[in-house]
Amino acid sequence: MTWLMVAVVVVAAAGLLRWRRPAWYWLSLGVTFATVRVLVRYASVMDACGLTVPPARWRLALARMTRREVPGPRSPRILRLRPTRTGLVLRLKLRPGQDAFDVAATTDRLRHSFGLYGVTSCEIRSGVVEVRMTGYDVLKRVQMPARLDTRPMRIPVALREDGSVHYRDYRAVPHGLTLGATESGKSVYQRNLVAGLAPHHVALVGIDCKQGVELFPLARRFSALADNPDTALELLEALVTHMEEVYQLIRAEQRISVAVPDAEIAADVWDLPEDIRPVPVVVLVDEVAELALYATKDEEKRRDRIITALVRLAQLGRAAGIYLEICGQRFGSELGKGITMLRAQLTGRTAHRVNDETSANMAFGDIAPDAVLAAIQIPAETRGLAIAGDSTGGWHRIRAPHTSLREAVNICNKHAHLTPDLPALAAFRPATAAVSSARDRLSKTAPATA
Ligand SMILES: Nc1ncnc2c1ncn2[C@@H]1O[C@H](COP(=O)(O)OP(=O)(O)OP(=O)(O)O)[C@@H](O)[C@H]1O
Ligand SMILES: [Mg+2]
Repeated sequence: MTWLMVAVVVVAAAGLLRWRRPAWYWLSLGVTFATVRVLVRYASVMDACGLTVPPARWRLALARMTRREVPGPRSPRILRLRPTRTGLVLRLKLRPGQDAFDVAATTDRLRHSFGLYGVTSCEIRSGVVEVRMTGYDVLKRVQMPARLDTRPMRIPVALREDGSVHYRDYRAVPHGLTLGATESGKSVYQRNLVAGLAPHHVALVGIDCKQGVELFPLARRFSALADNPDTALELLEALVTHMEEVYQLIRAEQRISVAVPDAEIAADVWDLPEDIRPVPVVVLVDEVAELALYATKDEEKRRDRIITALVRLAQLGRAAGIYLEICGQRFGSELGKGITMLRAQLTGRTAHRVNDETSANMAFGDIAPDAVLAAIQIPAETRGLAIAGDSTGGWHRIRAPHTSLREAVNICNKHAHLTPDLPALAAFRPATAAVSSARDRLSKTAPATA
């Protein structure tokens, strides 16, 4: 009787753990159960999912000659089964006649056959496929792993649905575009980027047309900030000047002469010796549509100059170490001329929940049509869930951890001493401006209460 009681308590505790703390359950019990389940069911699941091939002819002939039992169909060979923090990684060697698409097409069937939460597959090299399985919904409550890759300009910004970390790698994908309907999680994603960039040797430049409510609290880690289209124009033109100065420096340091071997000729900031290398600059723009809207002739002129400066930065900035990170609700041709040209330069695409197919098309229409559908299907209640793609056509479902503004401010303040001074942008260095005047004005006009 007591044994029965103990067993009931243990099962109830495991069930409670699995429900309330799936990550702990996975690490304590889930990983063992799932490994045993996958190994025991492997052959029958592969057979049921049509991932087997008939035995080779020489095996059949050998069985006939030796009057042994006829060999059965053969499943892909397991090269490795590796447990991870969030699931299992199964590496398979395909049999002749099978291809990676066969496995990709059965991921949904594998998912419930093995009793796991999610299954994705990718081809590692010819004939070798990696099947990544997660034990629980890793995007429900995002917890980034403790050990992360900290290479310069490579920011761990979100978790992918297969449990791996999604990096925003500025050197591989210099410019990025983040789209999403209002309240979909764009600013939280950008905040995570700022918090991730803060400890790096990089200058942050921000343009936040929501009067600075998102980026100004993080001001101590920013080298320059603008909170309205007028300042944004001056700031972008100053950045273009900075870019030209960097190119002058690279040109001066190139030392091209017939006697210099090819390897020593510098073509971008990363080729320069570390002591003279200009600090890379990440330009974060929130609510970009504000920069492209106009009501009067003067505003139209300003808009054209802003878009021209952005296009120039996007086209030429990479080698000068200037990277753009643009956020907005929509970013299409209805914002006027130059927008699609700018969008074409923004290789890294991320789409949060969007309300219509046209908005999703602005992010993925020209690179990954199936990601468009995935972006529309993001449910409204899971804010922060996004589809991240790149120009290779691949895409992933990702979610950034919910970093509050307070946490981001703390990180920025902690690394405020790393904020570089860029002479070209000195005029835009944020002062911790007092907001009391706005507060006074609003409270004076507000109706008196009680
Ligand atoms: N990754 C996330 N995890 C959990 N909650 C999130 C996440 N991202 C956003 N949220 C929630 O969604 C709310 C809105 O997020 P955010 O301000 O980033 O939206 P937005 O797309 O920038 O909206 P807007 O276009 O109005 O500025 C946040 O206050 C937060 O509560
Ligand atoms: Mg926002």
